[in-house]
Amino acid sequence: MFAMSKQDAEQVSEAEIAVHWGEEKLIQPSPEFIAQANMTDEKIFERFSLENFPDCFKEYADLLDWYKTWDLTLDTSEAPSWKWFVGGLINASYNCVDRHLAQYKNKAAIIWVPEPEEESHIVLTYQELYVRVNEFAALLSDKTGLKTGDRVTIHMPMVPELPVTMLACARLGVIHSVVFGGFSGNACGERIADSGSRVLITMDGYYRSGKLLDHKVKADEAVKTANKEGQEVEHVLVWRRYGDRNASEAPMVKGRDHFVDELLPAYRGKRVEPVQLPAEAPLFLMYTSGTTGRPKGCQHGIGGYLAYAAATSKYVQDIHPEDVYWCMADIGWITGHSYIVYGPLALGATSVMYEGVPTFPDAGRAWRIAEQLDVNIFHTAPTTIRMLRKAGPDEPAKYNYNFKHMTTVGEPIEPAVWRWYHEVVGKGKAVIVDTYWQTETGGFLCSTMPAIHPMKAGSAGPAVPGIHPKILDEDGNEIPRGANKAGILIIQNPWPGQFQTIWGDQERYVETYYAKFNKDPKSKDWRDWPYIPGDAAMEAEDGYFRILGRMDDVINVAGHRLGTKELESACLMVDAIAEASVVPVNDEIKGKVPDIYISLKPGFEASDEIKLAVVKTIEESIGKIARPKNVWIVPDMPKTRSGKIMRRVLASISNNQDVGDITTLANPDIVEEVRRMVQGK
Ligand code: WT7
Repeated sequence: MFAMSKQDAEQVSEAEIAVHWGEEKLIQPSPEFIAQANMTDEKIFERFSLENFPDCFKEYADLLDWYKTWDLTLDTSEAPSWKWFVGGLINASYNCVDRHLAQYKNKAAIIWVPEPEEESHIVLTYQELYVRVNEFAALLSDKTGLKTGDRVTIHMPMVPELPVTMLACARLGVIHSVVFGGFSGNACGERIADSGSRVLITMDGYYRSGKLLDHKVKADEAVKTANKEGQEVEHVLVWRRYGDRNASEAPMVKGRDHFVDELLPAYRGKRVEPVQLPAEAPLFLMYTSGTTGRPKGCQHGIGGYLAYAAATSKYVQDIHPEDVYWCMADIGWITGHSYIVYGPLALGATSVMYEGVPTFPDAGRAWRIAEQLDVNIFHTAPTTIRMLRKAGPDEPAKYNYNFKHMTTVGEPIEPAVWRWYHEVVGKGKAVIVDTYWQTETGGFLCSTMPAIHPMKAGSAGPAVPGIHPKILDEDGNEIPRGANKAGILIIQNPWPGQFQTIWGDQERYVETYYAKFNKDPKSKDWRDWPYIPGDAAMEAEDGYFRILGRMDDVINVAGHRLGTKELESACLMVDAIAEASVVPVNDEIKGKVPDIYISLKPGFEASDEIKLAVVKTIEESIGKIARPKNVWIVPDMPKTRSGKIMRRVLASISNNQDVGDITTLANPDIVEEVRRMVQGK
C-alpha cells in the first residue's frame, strides 16, 4: 500500500539535501542540431495543453498505421484503467516491420554487435526482419499453439533473435513478458507463474565480459519454480548462439525443449497475417519491483503504448529514418522495449544492439562501435556513463564518431558526470536529454525537447508535451510551481503510454498509484485520479524538474528498481537468519546499491560463511544485479518501541551520515554499536 509515513517524509528532505546540486547554467542546442530536428515548434505545448486533452494525442496516434481509426480517444469507464483509441484496430508488428517494406526493405532495421570483437556484426534489413518475424510467428502458433491473448515468457540476452521473438508475438497478439537475461532462473520462474505462461523462450548462452555463459540452465530452474507455484511449462524454445553447436551443457528435456534452429526450416517462406487487434488489447507485460515482495507485471496496451513510444522517439530522441541510433540498454528493461525495439522500429530507423559489457575488452569499445557504425544518436544511463568515465576518461577523444544527440535515463546524474558526458563523449556538440520516466509510464514524462529547450545538468527538464505534473505536499496541497521545494510528484492526467493495470492485481494497481490523492473511488472523471509515480521531486523557477528519488522501499540500483522487501525475504531463506533489513548505500558507479543488515537466530555465531550464504541466496533468487555491497551481522536491529526496524537509521550509518534523533527508539544503544561496526570509529 502506498502511504508515506512521517518518517518517509523526513527522508524526502534528506534526499533534497543529498541531491541538491545547486543551480546549473543553461546550455543551448547548436543551430546545426535545430536545423535538422524533428520538432522545433514551441506551439506543440499549446496543442498538448490540458484544454486540448485528450484529443491532442491524435497527433501521436497518426504516426501509426491503423486498420481502422478509433471512435473514442480516451475511455474512462473503467477509471483509473484508461483505454486509449477505443474502436481502433492495429498491429504493432505490422507497424514496426511490414509498413516499412515499400520504402526501406533494404535498409538496416537492426545492427547487432556481438561482444567478441572478432565476430562479425549481424545486420537485419527490414526485409529480413519481416521474413524472420513471419517464420517464427508461424512456428509459434503451429508448434506451441500460442494465440491472441496468451502470455509467453521470454528470458533472453541481447541478441537479434530477441526483437524477432517479440515482434512475432505482437503479430499474433500473444502478450510477451520479457524477463531481463541477468535475472536468475528462480526470478524468471516467479514471473512465468504470475503471468500464467505455458511457453518459455530462451537461449542456450551468450557472451558477457569475454565468457560464454550458460543461460539454458536457468530455464530448467525457472520451469521448476513455476511448477512449484502451480504453473506448468509445456514448451521451452531454445535459440542457439551458434547454429552448429550448443553453448549450454544443460540437457534438453524430451518433449518439452526444442532448439529453434532445428524447427525453423519447416517454416521457410511461411507468412502470418498480422492479427487486427483492438487498440487497447495488451501488447506486453514488464515486471518491476515494488514495496511488497511480489514483482508487479505492468500491462501495456498496443495502440496507446506504440503511439507514445513512436512519438517520443521521434520528437525527444529526434530519430529520423536515416539516423544510426544506439541505445545501450538491455531489452529486458522498459528502456529497451520502448527505445530499442518499438519506438525506433515504428519509425523505420536503424537500431543498434550490443551483446555485452560496454568496457569489454577495454574502455574504448563503445566508442569503436560508434565510430565503425557512424552512430549519431547515443542513449545510455548514468551508471554506464560513470563506468565509462572511470575506465577511460580520455578514450572518446581517440575515436572519430559524431553524435548529434545523447540521452541519459534511469537515475539522477551528477552535474560533474553530466559535464563529462557533454564535453568529452558528446565533444561539446551533441545535445543531451535527461529523460525521467518509469516501467509503468511506457515513455518519457520529463525531458527537455532537444531543439526547443536549453539543457541543464542534473535536471530532467520540463514535462514533455501532454504530461501535466504537479508537486504536492503530504496532505495533497499543491506546492506552488517553481518553488524549488521538494514534494510528491504527481501527473494530473493520463497519457497513451501509461500502463493499463498490474497483471492480475487491479486492487494493488489502484492502491499503489492512485489511492492516496483520489477523493472519490467511484469517479469516472480522469481529473479525480492523479497518477503517483512514487518519486520525490522539486520544480525550479524555470519549470525544470529535478527528481530526488523514490519515496517507497525501492532501491534504484544502476538505474533499475529493486524492492528491499524482495531482498529481505531472500535473506530469510538462509537458515541462520532471524531478521534482515536492506538499505540503499551510495555507490560511485551504480548510484545506489543494497547494504544488508542481518541478525541471527539464537545458537548461531556470526561467520563469513553466513555472509557468503546471504550473497549466494540473493544471486540465486533475484540475480547478480542485486548483489549487496556489504552484509553486516548485527547483534540486534535498531527498532521503534512498536518493534519496527528503523531502516532510516541503518541507511544513515551505511552512508556515513548523522543518525539523527534516536532517543525514542526501544534500543538506542544498539545504534552506536552498529555504527562503530560499520564506520569503524
Ligand atoms: C525510476 C523508474 C525509465 C527507464 C529506466 C528505469 C528513476 C528514472 C530518471 C531520471 C532521476 C530517474 C525514478 C523512477 N528515474 N529516470 N532521468 N532522473 N531519476 O525504469 O526501473 O521503472 O525505474 O527510476 O526513481 O521512478 P524503472
